[in-house]
Amino acid sequence: MIRVTFVCLGNFCRSPMAELILKKMVKERGIASSFEITSCGTFSYDEGTPIYDPAVRTLRAHGVEGDHTARKITREDVEKSDYLLVMDENNYRDVVEFAGEDGKGKVFLLLSFTPRGGVVADPWFTHDFEKAYSDIEEGCRCFLDFVLKKGVSA
Ligand code: 4NP
Repeated sequence: MIRVTFVCLGNFCRSPMAELILKKMVKERGIASSFEITSCGTFSYDEGTPIYDPAVRTLRAHGVEGDHTARKITREDVEKSDYLLVMDENNYRDVVEFAGEDGKGKVFLLLSFTPRGGVVADPWFTHDFEKAYSDIEEGCRCFLDFVLKKGVSA
C-alpha cells in the first residue's frame, strides 16, 4: 500500500485537485486498491468547505470528478503517509517544520518528480486554474511513474 497525502496552504484549490487527479490516474490503471490518497492544508482558513468552484470547473473540464472537504494537516497524516507531496516552497517549509522527525524523507515538492522541477503556483492568487491543472497533472503522472518503477504491492 502506498499512502499519499497532498498538502497546500488552504486545501481549497491545489491539493484537492491533486488528490482527485491522482485518484483518477490510479483507477484508470487498475491499481487504485494499492493506494490511499488524501489531501490537507497547512492553514485552516477554509476548513470544512468544499473545493473552490473554479477548481471544480477546471477539473470537470478535464473529466475529473469528485469532492473533498478542506481540513488541516494532522499528526496522523504525517505518521501514516509514505509521501507528503507539497505544492510550493512555503508548503515545504511549513510541512517539514510541522512534521519534525516523523516527516524525515517523506516531504517532496510535487514537481520535483518532473524533469523540470519547480512549484505549482497558487491559483487562488494567480487565478490561472488551467496552469495549476496542467502542472499538477504532470506532477502526478511523473510521481506515479516514479512509484511504479519502485514497485507497488497491495
Ligand atoms: P490552495 O489555495 O493553497 O491551493 O488551497 C488557497 C486557497 C485559499 C486561501 C489561500 C490559498 N485563502 O487564503 O483562503
